[in-house]
Amino acid sequence: MNMQLHIQKMSKEDIDAVYAIESSVSPTPWSKDNFLKTFDAVYSYSSILKCDTIIFGYVLFLLIEDEVTILNIAVAQEFQSKGYGQMLLTHVHTFARNQKVKTAFLEVNEHNVQAIHFYIKQGYEIYSKRPKYYVNGDDALTMRYFFV
Ligand SMILES: CC(C)(COP(=O)(O)OP(=O)(O)OC[C@H]1O[C@@H](n2cnc3c(N)ncnc32)[C@H](O)[C@@H]1OP(=O)(O)O)[C@@H](O)C(=O)NCCC(=O)NCCS
Repeated sequence: MNMQLHIQKMSKEDIDAVYAIESSVSPTPWSKDNFLKTFDAVYSYSSILKCDTIIFGYVLFLLIEDEVTILNIAVAQEFQSKGYGQMLLTHVHTFARNQKVKTAFLEVNEHNVQAIHFYIKQGYEIYSKRPKYYVNGDDALTMRYFFV
């Protein structure tokens, strides 16, 4: 058993635990079905940050040609603000760089100040707005990151 903090591929058996985190931390949580569909989608990648049997966080992303899209990223409440989100995003960036990706994209709820600060700290910039993007009518900000 791997007792150290590490990132590994998500498996279908992880989805209940991932969904429990999602329901408790996300302002507009994905359904379990969203996870299952993304998990099976072509070009999609899903990773978890784990220590022993405990899942600290996860990230799901799409990699198509020279673009990566961050679909979802979260860290369980009790483990937030300890650098684990940054660890997950660095994992995506390292993978993307190895695939010669040029740009990363994502959407974030305009009221999710914590996540917006998080992405800006990682070098992302806001470049547009998608009105009423979320089911509750909130707008999304679109953000991007250029790999150099
Ligand atoms: C966004 C999220 C993944 C960040 O993960 P995290 O592990 O808490 O973040 P980290 O500890 O790696 O923080 C890295 C940097 O982000 C910024 N940051 C993180 N939390 C922040 C907060 N609450 N307020 C302001 N800045 C914050 C800081 O600049 C921080 O660097 P610092 O600690 O050196 O100042 C996490 O807060 C989360 O799961 N949020 C709920 C789900 C969500 O909204 N996901 C985004 C969907 S688009």
